[in-house]
Amino acid sequence: MELLFLLLLLVVASTVFLLLHRHHYSYSYSYRRRREHGLLPLPPGSQGMPLVGETLRLISAYKTEDPEPFIDDRVRRHGRIFTSHVFGERTVFSADPDLNRAIVCGEGRSFECSYPSSIATLLGRHSLLVMKAGPHHKRMHSLTLTRFASLPLLRSRLLPDIDRLVRLTLGSWGDGQLLPLLDQAKKITFELTVKQLMSCDPGSWTEELRKEYLLLIDGFFSVPLPSFLSSRFTTYGRAIRARTKVAEALRGVIRKRRRDEKKDSSSSSSPSPSPSPSPSPSRSREDMLDELMDGFSEEEIVDFLLALLVAGYETTPTIMTLLVKFLTENPRALSIIKEEHDEIRARKTQESEPLQWSDYKAMAFTQCVINETLRVANIISGVFRRATTDVHFKGYTIPKGCKVFASFRAVHLDSENFKDARTFNPWRWQRDDENGIFTPFGGGPRLCPGYELARVEISVFLHHLVTRFSWDVAEKDKLVFFPTTRTLKGYPIIVRHRHQKVSEKVMR
Ligand code: HEM
Repeated sequence: MELLFLLLLLVVASTVFLLLHRHHYSYSYSYRRRREHGLLPLPPGSQGMPLVGETLRLISAYKTEDPEPFIDDRVRRHGRIFTSHVFGERTVFSADPDLNRAIVCGEGRSFECSYPSSIATLLGRHSLLVMKAGPHHKRMHSLTLTRFASLPLLRSRLLPDIDRLVRLTLGSWGDGQLLPLLDQAKKITFELTVKQLMSCDPGSWTEELRKEYLLLIDGFFSVPLPSFLSSRFTTYGRAIRARTKVAEALRGVIRKRRRDEKKDSSSSSSPSPSPSPSPSPSRSREDMLDELMDGFSEEEIVDFLLALLVAGYETTPTIMTLLVKFLTENPRALSIIKEEHDEIRARKTQESEPLQWSDYKAMAFTQCVINETLRVANIISGVFRRATTDVHFKGYTIPKGCKVFASFRAVHLDSENFKDARTFNPWRWQRDDENGIFTPFGGGPRLCPGYELARVEISVFLHHLVTRFSWDVAEKDKLVFFPTTRTLKGYPIIVRHRHQKVSEKVMR
């Protein structure tokens, strides 16, 4: 037994020694190699402690309410491009808008996207988010852009669907009801995405699927363990199991669609009883799933749909919630927003008349508020990439194989780029020309294909919220930035019907 223990100790000690040695060797080697070849140096910085580098400092820094403590501190000491060592790897951080542009636009040439394998396992290797740049990614990316960012589709199909589904949820809110706003926003965006991807209307099937999604998404922010260690008691283990269930549910929809197609083509007229989920009767077979049916395997379609549901689920609802929080804290901005939306509603002859594209286009100040929320909150704080070649930039070299982090947040919160950058000021968007440094949706070949859809969803949600309700904050809530940007309690509010309030006032 003792011998076994000693052997174990020896193995651990030699592993630590080898790792430490490698850590120092790789740094000194790369510096020496550079000097010998007269190459530009690595960006300045600190590697922190052996093995852990600056990971613990990064994590503890972001546990404060300060949006950018880790990067701010290093920018002060080393400049906007610096080197650190986090999550087991040397990483070049960029708070420089030019380098950020070079990083996102250099995708597939000098940089490639790089996610940990634990994330890739949850998303699936055919998901757009983890797919390497190349012809296949290009095809899938442009397919997604066509579905979600094409004007004719947004105008004729997406806007009416969004309008209807937002009304449906807000219509279920009672006067004086207490609601965690983030939950409601997530419910709305999930139902919208399911509808747009596979034409399924909200119901018990979508709600069951959403429950599994919650577990799956928790997995992205958990400690991944190897499969033999991850049990049902770990968050990551539960996420893997939820993924299997979600994939199974999506497979069911794909198979049903294939069966229906076969039936259609053999022109059989009597439809069989449809298993859940039931596509809406109005489905005109022109959703994302229809686009994928020809030319993609079942596994590819499952990964693709699953990742699209993830991409829209955490981002858009968080922006909706934070936008309401920022407006609540800025009564002047809120009153302009109310005026803008009341004017649009006043042009309608009936309360239930749907929004038109021209109404969306008339929401000018709303767009300023959305921009400012995206700028201040920065849901996606930046993107990780890996250099696929030695990259020379502003006097530095980012060596081939090095991890890089292009921080959008650092650029958006830099007073060199935006006056009083840390203050919420939607009016700045009435005059600011942001010169391509405002990149909440990324850029280059991986530009977010949901960029316009997200704006429409947020605008329609805000329209129905402010024209139908007023609200009070039910509980003090705090904005936090780690592991994601969100409010701690999901922003609980008490909603009141606006017309009821008016009539109450009249009676008094
Ligand atoms: C406010 C809401 C949103 C924000 C701030 C946002 C932000 C981003 C950013 C910064 C990226 C680039 C990631 C990278 O370069 O690695 C991205 C990618 C992506 N987004 Fe969004 N997004 C939002 C909403 C949506 C929605 C509604 C959808 C679709 C339903 C969506 C689908 C995607 C997909 C599929 C990608 C991967 C693109 C690729 O790698 O080719 N996003 N998003």
